[in-house]
Amino acid sequence: MTARKKKAEPACGRSVLRAAEVLREGGVVAIPTETVYGLAGNIFDEKAIRAIYRIKKRPSSNPLIVHVAGLEQARELVTRMPPAAEKLARAFWPGPLTLILPKKKKVPGWVTAGQDTVGLRVPDHPLTLRLLRTLDFPLAAPSANPFTYISPVTADQVARMLGKQTGYILDGGRCRAGIESTIVSFEKGKARILRPGAIPEEAIKKVVGTAGSPGKKPADILHPGMYKKHYSPRTPLLLTRDVETAWKTRAKGRTVLLAYGRKYPFAPPGSQRWLGRTPAMVARRLYDVLHQLDREGYDLIIAPELPEIDLGRAVNDRLRKAARRD
Ligand code: TXA
Ligand code: MG
Repeated sequence: MTARKKKAEPACGRSVLRAAEVLREGGVVAIPTETVYGLAGNIFDEKAIRAIYRIKKRPSSNPLIVHVAGLEQARELVTRMPPAAEKLARAFWPGPLTLILPKKKKVPGWVTAGQDTVGLRVPDHPLTLRLLRTLDFPLAAPSANPFTYISPVTADQVARMLGKQTGYILDGGRCRAGIESTIVSFEKGKARILRPGAIPEEAIKKVVGTAGSPGKKPADILHPGMYKKHYSPRTPLLLTRDVETAWKTRAKGRTVLLAYGRKYPFAPPGSQRWLGRTPAMVARRLYDVLHQLDREGYDLIIAPELPEIDLGRAVNDRLRKAARRD
């Protein structure tokens, strides 16, 4: 074969067996899911989990989501599953839904940042499902990006950000949903959305009737919204309801507009990047476009706020956090 391997390139491929081997040896593997790529390790291996925090530069107070092969394996890790959680799991697993549930003792505190709850989900990706079924331990996996940067939706983006630090990158192609899972917790049996994500609130309500949104929480309770800056590109991003006025008054240097619904008639086509016609299309493309724009080197990204319905909520949440500089 003529293909020459560059030494610096991280090990990357489609081998579930290789991924399993690295994980059994206590290594860290980037895994594809339907939402974004995760950085995975054996939940029972303290060294592997510490490595995940170190590679991501993530504060040790921020718990990891545990990925399991199915409902049965989920049950083994929790003391209780409220009926609403059971209904949601049956409706959406495998899929982009994370349930926060009271953990059994055997779930180590190093995965949950010392909390007595654990976030669980069954990811909907054929390679990762096969991997989870092969292993006899669950996988803790946060998104495979450095803390506060944009989550990766391709193996190539993982390789650029963290490649050399992972034992293996399992390449499962481009992530289908493109935005993280919806996180749901339960209070007195009632579902409450902690992080809007790839399953819209409307779909959750159809299954369990009501779904509270994250209200104001005491500072000592850990929750996904506690870090205001998150999901941020290096390029400054301005989020606005009025893209035309922002373009006319705020554009500077090389400015690019994110186009939603239609291309804008008031700006040259070359200054626009198409996001999509629907919130679901935008969710699928958003991180990919932000990764590309960061590489191309713009001075400013102007982004439209989407209507607060369907996946628009999750997209707006990410854009709001991307717009923060503090
Ligand atoms: O789609 C996803 O959820 C992706 C893929 C890889 O599964 N994962 C992901 O993980 O987005 P991460 O770590 O980037 O975000 C998980 C969020 C964090 O904000 C964390 O605070 C919250 O979930 N979380 C995890 N366990 C929790 C718990 N027990 N209680 C409250 N929040 C929890
Ligand atoms: Mg993340």
